[in-house]
Amino acid sequence: MARSNPTSGSSSDAPRDAIALLKQDHRTVSALFEEFEKADDEEQSAIAQRVCQLLTVHATIEEELLYPAAKQAFEDEEDDDLVNEAEVEHGTAKELIAKIEGMTSDDEHFKATVTVLGEYIKHHVKEEEGELFPQLKKTELDLKELGGRLADRKFQLMEQLGIEEEAAPQPRKRAASRGAARSKSGNRRSGSRARH
Ligand SMILES: [Fe+2]
Ligand SMILES: [Fe+2]
Repeated sequence: MARSNPTSGSSSDAPRDAIALLKQDHRTVSALFEEFEKADDEEQSAIAQRVCQLLTVHATIEEELLYPAAKQAFEDEEDDDLVNEAEVEHGTAKELIAKIEGMTSDDEHFKATVTVLGEYIKHHVKEEEGELFPQLKKTELDLKELGGRLADRKFQLMEQLGIEEEAAPQPRKRAASRGAARSKSGNRRSGSRARH
């Protein structure tokens, strides 16, 4: 159907494959959870806030666009169950996010709640990447087209929240995450936006 003609997109932002976009989000948050565990109290609060915001955006685009598209594309009930499970897990994750957002870092359970959210997200991501996404690839769903819609909605939500796109994380070089990693964002649509 849609040909991958590089001239068909509007100037610089050709749509990325939906799965690639979502996997990159997963990498970004998992790197932040790792950073959280090693950070000092002051940094932890900022990291937790960012994780909550990014997860909220990610969950929203999946719920609004990915999951309905997946349900439509899937023909087997078992595959629909994967989506239903993911939706229920989002509900639990959002409860934890709301708790964290209502806490200060000196709350007795602050660190534990962020850690539990991290473990929970890890499990959820494993299921999405290990089961849901592979099943989705087998369908007729146009992942490029969906990727474009996910990217647009993500951009819109991030603007609403006043947060910026993050460079792709470099898990093995966490110390460099503040400076060097940022220059990697040049190919992203918001790559030229201001720093913090
Ligand atoms: Fe999800
Ligand atoms: Fe996800």
